Amino acid sequence: MLKRLWSKKGETDSQATLPIQPDNIPEHIAIIMDGNGRWAKHKGLPRIAGHHTGMKTVKRITIAANDLGVKFLTLYAFSTENWKRPKDEVEFLMKLPQQFLELEIEELMENNVQVRMMGDKDQLPPHTRKAVEDAMSRTANNTGLVLNFALNYGGRLELIKAVQAVAEQVQNGQLQVDHINEDLFSTYMQSKEMPDPDLLIRTSGEIRLSNFMLWQLAYSEFYFTDVYWPEFSEAHFMAAIQEYQRRARRFGGV
Ligand code: FPP
Repeated sequence: MLKRLWSKKGETDSQATLPIQPDNIPEHIAIIMDGNGRWAKHKGLPRIAGHHTGMKTVKRITIAANDLGVKFLTLYAFSTENWKRPKDEVEFLMKLPQQFLELEIEELMENNVQVRMMGDKDQLPPHTRKAVEDAMSRTANNTGLVLNFALNYGGRLELIKAVQAVAEQVQNGQLQVDHINEDLFSTYMQSKEMPDPDLLIRTSGEIRLSNFMLWQLAYSEFYFTDVYWPEFSEAHFMAAIQEYQRRARRFGGV
């Protein structure tokens, strides 16, 4: 029986049994959580209501991932382009990590979850940055699921920063050009302590990467669903993993 991270009232063990192959669970799942705004619009609600409900989905999918034995879950919570949104919406989005972590930190601790973040921390409002840093340091020694928030994250910016760091080392004579290879370059990425995602999920029907993990997704399996993120359920998550398990991964081989 797989362990549940947060128990649900009245749930029986049989409901937690998963009809998927336990020996082929993606080690790292990355998710572009899209469709909060459209979900809210369809319900006649303000966009921020979509983000708030989306935060609840974060909790449900974290539970599901932990139950399944996924090791890394990376969630695209705010991109470097999202600053272009109306000020009120940006402010609301910047409060969500704090709200989520304050509400859930004890259970994350109890369940050995380690919080991490990818993205440019320097531009985050102090309250957002502090909430994430506190959660990261409190959970740093946990050895279970890594819950990795991509926050103020952009794939191109990450690549440029990596290139700058490599170039600086070459310029200083600390690195030789012909020593630069894929393995070495990966160590300059913010995901350096994680394997590349096995599976990328994007909700809401959009079929694009939106500047997400451009280096790391080179050989990932992609799964797109029309479901809006606030409605993305454990069953939808399982369906994505089942689809992943039907794929034959060849990494360029035959
Ligand atoms: C994209 O939907 C979603 C975002 C830019 C924000 C995602 C944030 C959450 C799901 C909550 C994060 C929670 C934590 C704990 C950090 P959209 O607003 O672009 O939707 P639309 O395309 O329908 O307008």
